[in-house]
Parts: sequence; structure tokens; C-alpha cells
Amino acid sequence: MRAPRILLLEAAGPESGAIARTAAASGYQVHAATDPATHGAYGAGLRRLLSGCLLADLSRPERALKDIVGYARRIGADAVLTANEYLTPLLAQACAELGLPGNDPDRATAARDKAAMSEAFALHGVAAPRTRVLASEDDLRLLRAAGELSLPYVIKPADGAGSAGVTVVNDPASAAGAWHAAARSPRGMYGLPPDPRVLVQDYVEGTEYSIESITRHGTTTHLCATRKTVTPGAHRVEVGHCLPAALPPATERAVHQEVERAIAAVGIRNGASHTEVIVDRDRRCSVIEIGARLGAGHIGILLGHALGIDPWTALLDTALDRPAHLAPARRAYASVRFLTSPRTGRLVAVTGLPKEGPGVPAVHLRTAVGQTVGPAQTNRRRLGHFIVTGPDPAAVERQAEQILAQITVVVDSDRPPHRAGSPAVPGPGPEREATRAP
Ligand SMILES: Nc1ncnc2c1ncn2[C@@H]1O[C@H](COP(=O)(O)OP(=O)(O)O)[C@@H](O)[C@H]1O
Ligand SMILES: [Mg+2]
Repeated sequence: MRAPRILLLEAAGPESGAIARTAAASGYQVHAATDPATHGAYGAGLRRLLSGCLLADLSRPERALKDIVGYARRIGADAVLTANEYLTPLLAQACAELGLPGNDPDRATAARDKAAMSEAFALHGVAAPRTRVLASEDDLRLLRAAGELSLPYVIKPADGAGSAGVTVVNDPASAAGAWHAAARSPRGMYGLPPDPRVLVQDYVEGTEYSIESITRHGTTTHLCATRKTVTPGAHRVEVGHCLPAALPPATERAVHQEVERAIAAVGIRNGASHTEVIVDRDRRCSVIEIGARLGAGHIGILLGHALGIDPWTALLDTALDRPAHLAPARRAYASVRFLTSPRTGRLVAVTGLPKEGPGVPAVHLRTAVGQTVGPAQTNRRRLGHFIVTGPDPAAVERQAEQILAQITVVVDSDRPPHRAGSPAVPGPGPEREATRAP
């Protein structure tokens, strides 16, 4: 029997890379599809494990679909999958054309674009915050003038990700700025056609969780709930995830029920989903968003440490139309904390980082000293992370907090860095600010 052939829509990035490495280690032939610019940044290790790569113009989805389907046929792909949320609508269409397990191509945009998502949620009775789609700032003014919005509310771009352009509006004076932040926030990847609309949503107070699930032929298995630590204030950035989160059984059932409604609403039939929910004080669950992919932010790694689940193999098996091993192999606990900058400036140092070792399997700084950093307003601005794991949730959380308290992020003053080619501005030397993370 020949080894399975896998086509990954995007092989770079933590989750995509993990799938590519897992597939190669299983003896599969691994191919990728990406755009030429992203391919230029593929590392040597990734290039070595790929048997081939399709360079497509992803900014023209119809053309890209033809190219992907043609390439998949040429290599005899047994599975096409992605961990990149931006590519999930394209993936659904490709799988449908190829007759491979995938999601409903007619509804796949609803798992990416929050305007389409809110319509799908309303149609399927998913418990979600009331959402209005704004075509222009005038729409926001009209809603406010009509007394239709009560504070606080949330303004967000229709097709954003990673909290970019999302603002919790607490006072009327910041509404216009929030609209502009959403309208102007950078859109998408690969030059994919943007959705310029902006959403205004009721604010839901409560504790935030994500649910990782895998659906096969329309039947869903929930892998676990992850509790999020999110920054307070106008900009909500995820600064910690821990799993498995223990929800009271009745709450867990209610959450799973809403998640399954959301999965059905956006046509997820085969593959992973990452559903973000907020559970309020009365244990009511609201679905904030869903993506047809596994959670990012190292959730896949945490699943391995805490529960012994290998999500990458599970995703490959599901895409290959095989039953996946989804039952926990152990019952431990894992927590990731992200490091953030206290302010805008140049990163001088990060001190007090722990060493990797037993119980601390990962410590990673992704931002180099000298780079310009800023306070976390999007997940992208996070500087690095560490993971703590162990059998006892309380002990793991304690240890994570202790480690965090030891770490100091040192940032120069917020004078703009000297630009090459422009005259140096004489002035006082940089003042420093050191702040404990975060
Ligand atoms: N309706 C809401 N009520 C309360 N908090 C929200 C709401 N919408 C978004 N948030 C907060 O903002 C964060 C980012 O918003 P989200 O809709 O998940 O966008 P993104 O796709 O950028 O992650 C969420 O994780 C949550 O903390
Ligand atoms: Mg989100």
C-alpha cells in the first residue's frame, strides 16, 4: 500500500508545521500550497520535508481553487487540510470538488467572517451576543442616536483575528475611535478579498473558554475546554490558556450543546473547530466566535501535555477519513502564559525567564532584543510564552504565576527608533522602563 499523500494549505506556522512534521514522521508524502511571498520565508527544515509545493495566487480565490484542485489531482492527494483559518473557505471548496472529507463549501465563510457567522448563528438559534453589521460609521451613529446601543458594547472587524481591531467600548466618546480601529485594522492574509464591514455586539460579562472539537461525518467529539486569561480594558488579548478547564457538569453540557449548534450552523462536517464562548455568572453560555480549525496559542501542545492527545495525528486521520484517537491517554493539566510589553519602545531585555525542564516543557521568546514592541492590543504583539504542566491544576497555576512574577520585560522609552537613511535626532539618552510581565 502506498503512503498517503497529504496536501496542506499552508505549511508554515506552529500548528501547520506540527501537522507537516507529524505527517512526514508517519511516512506520508507531504505537499504544501501557499503564496510565493510566504513560501520565501519557509525554513530549511520545512522545505526539506515537503515533497512539493504549489505556489498559488491566493488573492484570487477562484483561480487558486482551480490550481489547488489541479495540483491535488496531479499528486493523487488522499487528504487536503489546513490549520490556517483564512484558508478554511478555500479548503471546503477544494475538498468538495475533490470528493474528500471536508466542510460544507456553501457555509464555510460563516466560520471565518463574523458578519456571515452572526447570520448563521441567528438562523440556527445559537446563543450569541446580539450583533449588528455596520456598512459605515453613519450606521453606528444612527444606532447610537436611536438609543439602540447600551454600554458597554464591542466593536470588531467582520473578518479580523487575534483580537486585532476589537474594542470594548465603555464610554460614548470612544465609539468613533473604536469604529475606525475596526475599519482600518489590517485584513486577512495572502491579499484575500477583505470584508470591510464592522460589527457592533452586545458585551457579555463572564469567563471565557474555548472548546476544541473534532467532527467526523457530522458527529462531534469535544477534546476539552480551555480557560482563557484575557487582558481587561478596551483591548482584550489572550495572555493565558489552561486546560482542561473543569466546568460543572450541567454547564459543560449546556456549553457543548451551544458549540454543537454553532458547528452545525457554519457547516463543519469533517475536521477541527475552535469555539470561543463566554459563560456568565448565571452559567449561561454565549458563543463569541467559531473557526474551522484547531485553536492556536499552543493549545495543541497543551492538549498533548495535559491529556496525551495528539491533535496533529487526529487531524490527519480525520482528513484521511479514518477514525481518530481522541480519548485522553492521561489526566494532567497544562497552562501557557504569554509575555507582553508594558509600553511602546525597543525591547532591551527579558530577564528572569525560566529554563526548560521537567514541568516547564517550553520557554520561548519570539521577539528579538532591539525590535520595536508595544502594549498588547492584539495577540500578535505577544513577545513569547512559557508552558507549565503537572498533575495538579492548582499547583500548576501557582507555579505559572510564580514564574511570571520573576520575569521582567525591559523596554526603552517610546522615542521612535532611528530610521536608516534619516538624520539621527540628537537628544537625551533613552530612558528605560522595566515592568513585570504582564
Ligand atoms: N461580545 C463580546 N462580549 C465580551 N467580550 C468580547 C465580545 N466579543 C469579543 N470579546 C473579547 O474580545 C476578544 C476578541 O474578540 P473575537 O470576537 O474573539 O475576535 P478575534 O477573531 O479577533 O479573536 C475575545 O476573546 C473576548 O475577550
Ligand atoms: Mg477570538
